[in-house]
Amino acid sequence: MDDHLKTLFDAADKAAARAYAPYSKFFVGAAIRTSSGQIISGCNIENAAYPAGTCAEAGAIAAMIAQGESKIAEIAIVGVKSNPCYPCGACRQRIFEFSDTATRVHLRDGATGEAITHSIDALLPHAFGPRDLA
Ligand code: THU
Repeated sequence: MDDHLKTLFDAADKAAARAYAPYSKFFVGAAIRTSSGQIISGCNIENAAYPAGTCAEAGAIAAMIAQGESKIAEIAIVGVKSNPCYPCGACRQRIFEFSDTATRVHLRDGATGEAITHSIDALLPHAFGPRDLA
């Protein structure tokens, strides 16, 4: 894995280690590299009222928007217990909103530790998106 990807996975791991997931105990971290090169991370946060919980990707995207950024160049997603940790359907849609065709989604291969990389288009083909509302 090259250094720039390792930096992104390190940020995702750090966020995953801080995840608040006392109910599922499935700790997830996500780290976005924005189009300007900033790295912004998030973790899943569960709630005693279960549906109120939020995914790691949603947290990272919220932090990105709060930082005034809106383009995901790449995103790394890691689970503490299980890898690859593929983004759920809702998070694929969330990522798509802030992506373009060059955006890359990186998971970690649990067996080798290497990155598994997909385009967002491969993960969410024929997506409904901002263009449909234009
Ligand atoms: N989770 C994420 O944070 N991201 C995903 O894409 C999949 C699921 C979290 C939500 C919940 O806190 C836990 O993993 C188990 O579903």
